[in-house]
Amino acid sequence: MERSVYFDNAATTPLRKEVVDVMHDVLLNTYGNPSSTHSFGRSAKTQIETARKSIARHFNVKPQEIIFTSGGTESDNMFLQCAVRDLGIQTVITSKIEHHAIIHAVDFLVEHNLAQVIYVKTNSDGMVDYEDLDRLLVADDSKKLVSLMHVNNEIGSILDLKRVSNSCKSHNALFHTDAVQGVGHYSIDLEKVQIDFLSAAAHKFHGPKGVGFSFIRQNSGLNPFIMGGSQERGLRAGTESVHNIVGMAKALEIAYSKLEEEQGYIRDLKSYAISQLKSSLPGIHFNGCCSDLEHSTFTLINVALPVQKSKAELLNFHLDLKGISCSKGSACQSGSLKGSHVLDQVLPQEHKSKPSLRFSFSIFNTKEEIDYLVETLCSFIEE
Ligand SMILES: Cc1ncc(COP(=O)(O)O)c(C=O)c1O
Repeated sequence: MERSVYFDNAATTPLRKEVVDVMHDVLLNTYGNPSSTHSFGRSAKTQIETARKSIARHFNVKPQEIIFTSGGTESDNMFLQCAVRDLGIQTVITSKIEHHAIIHAVDFLVEHNLAQVIYVKTNSDGMVDYEDLDRLLVADDSKKLVSLMHVNNEIGSILDLKRVSNSCKSHNALFHTDAVQGVGHYSIDLEKVQIDFLSAAAHKFHGPKGVGFSFIRQNSGLNPFIMGGSQERGLRAGTESVHNIVGMAKALEIAYSKLEEEQGYIRDLKSYAISQLKSSLPGIHFNGCCSDLEHSTFTLINVALPVQKSKAELLNFHLDLKGISCSKGSACQSGSLKGSHVLDQVLPQEHKSKPSLRFSFSIFNTKEEIDYLVETLCSFIEE
């Protein structure tokens, strides 16, 4: 029988059955427009507000501070553009290893002379240089927004949210974090960590695609990003995707109710993958700090493989043929010939010419699948 192994959970995750069930029910039965005042509309509105309350509880924030969006890209764009437009931000401090939703949004700000953008230093582990950040925060007296991702989607390095939020607060800067790869995998208490803005996407925690949320701290001063009706307190107009919102809340509820158990299971898979790969492929290089379980997420590894140049092009094709789905650098790049801007920043020169792959795990993967991956890689390399 043909095998099919899905190791691309940082690109997107399969839905949980319970999530599909609640979405199915909403699609069939709660089809009113939440803005309508009749009973069908009211019942859809109730579902949305229940979802909002449930999501807010996980982060210890007020329901009004959660705004539903179409996902991570929209939230990231919203924060950068609106902070500059509405809050007088003159300088955006970010890094060169952010997701393209940030990289291209800040390019736009620069191209249109809307703000200056400064990149904080990152090291070869993919970690932000916090002292450099502190220096940048006092470099001049312009009004600043720091936008740094929580968990890097390609190499898994984790930002110390508390450390960055403290720096921002003590220097009067606003702090946005793209937490698309962190939400649903780590608990984040926004009462304790003073983040102003946060982006999240449901499809990274076994929820549906095309829906996410923005956390916007109360009295932020942001004006509408998408103009139209008065949905989402006027900040993000458009008829709400009720089934997606309800599915997202369900996915998050399950993720946080099983957090420790599932973290433990996936972390164990990752450690197993690291030890098996190290012992079977001595020339392997773990990119960034992804083999360090304390400073990188438990969900992924990103490896430069000891493959001869002449065969490198065939590697992805071979894995695909063997039924193994993974990602070349970042998933958002797949199909593109351009290399990864993140690996470009963090990889030592000697590993840049080797093919790098990202394997990202979920609760639905097994050690047996990792054995199959290691065998498949070894036989390809030795052939
Ligand atoms: C860190 C990060 N930010 C933003 C995004 C974009 O999110 P979405 O696909 O929901 O637009 C992704 C998706 O890969 C991501 O990993």
